[in-house]
Amino acid sequence: MLRNTIKELSTKILNNQSDFDTIKNTIDEIHKHYLETTNIGELEKSMQHLAAVPTASGMALSLNHAAACLLDYKRTAKFLDAMVSLIRKKQQEHPNEIINIFYAGCGPYAPFITLVTPLFEASEVQFSILEINASSMQMAEKLIKELQLTDYVAAYHTSDAVTFQIPDAKKYHILFSETLDALLYRESYVPILWNMLPQLSENCAIIPNNVIIQASLTYPKQEGEDVKKEKEIAVILDVREKVKNSDGNTALPEKFEPITINLAGDEKYSTMIVDTKVHIQDDIWLNRNESSLSLPLEMEIAYPLDAPNVTFFYELKPSVELKLKN
Ligand SMILES: C[S@@+](CC[C@H](N)C(=O)[O-])C[C@H]1O[C@@H](n2cnc3c(N)ncnc32)[C@H](O)[C@@H]1O
Repeated sequence: MLRNTIKELSTKILNNQSDFDTIKNTIDEIHKHYLETTNIGELEKSMQHLAAVPTASGMALSLNHAAACLLDYKRTAKFLDAMVSLIRKKQQEHPNEIINIFYAGCGPYAPFITLVTPLFEASEVQFSILEINASSMQMAEKLIKELQLTDYVAAYHTSDAVTFQIPDAKKYHILFSETLDALLYRESYVPILWNMLPQLSENCAIIPNNVIIQASLTYPKQEGEDVKKEKEIAVILDVREKVKNSDGNTALPEKFEPITINLAGDEKYSTMIVDTKVHIQDDIWLNRNESSLSLPLEMEIAYPLDAPNVTFFYELKPSVELKLKN
């Protein structure tokens, strides 16, 4: 049975977190099964499945791009590890309770259901799924059915997580929403948390737990140094800090307050690096360059400085992106 094969492959990923080759080969094998089961390859030629979908704030990925996330190997392996560990932790905290999970943005492969549920009984975990892209949702439903995992899914919602009112929201132990890109560009992780966190119980755990956009400065490389020394200079955005201001009645702001970094002074720098630090759960982080989500932006600093101040702000309307002015 394919579900048992997926269970074995999932377990292999969990048991080999530090072995990249095993992770890559195992995810490639899972991908092969998912391709065969969904026939997604046939859809790859269709323009409709390449177009991003607008949300109330931000853009949602096309079916094809969302499917490709599975192959962001370390991302998938670390999120899987975090999800399974968190379910086990919640089981210990709530013995004899079904662990309810709200999955906002499942994509066509719904990997954090299809790779996770074979490791549990349907009497232990129940998912509600939300996806804005109707083609991705149809594909996810088909895959869940083919893998005989329908018993694990309590509800399917084709809707926008930025505005969605979650039925019976307080019952959820976990919210899972990997709806982000490096520098929190375009996708709606921030507006989704703004909308959903006030609806959920205070103890509801979130995956990813937080995203921090961090600026660092590097010094010119000295002789004998392999890598440039660097120092962290400012947190540009701490998502969980910002979404604390959402109480369910306050509208999503057009932008968050700007933060200014002053480069004047005696020290000379080589570059400024802006990192996207993804805190998945507990001690699981996506480190710089481990995934497309944690690719750094590096900008050269040219002297003499025309303007020593660099100001960053995160815009939420009309587009969702980090902006810079000086
Ligand atoms: C980065 S993909 C991840 C897919 C899959 N969960 C995974 O981890 O491989 C994000 C998914 O969330 C969906 N999505 C993004 N914004 C959304 C929104 N506001 N409401 C509902 N779904 C959304 C996209 O359509 C896409 O399928």
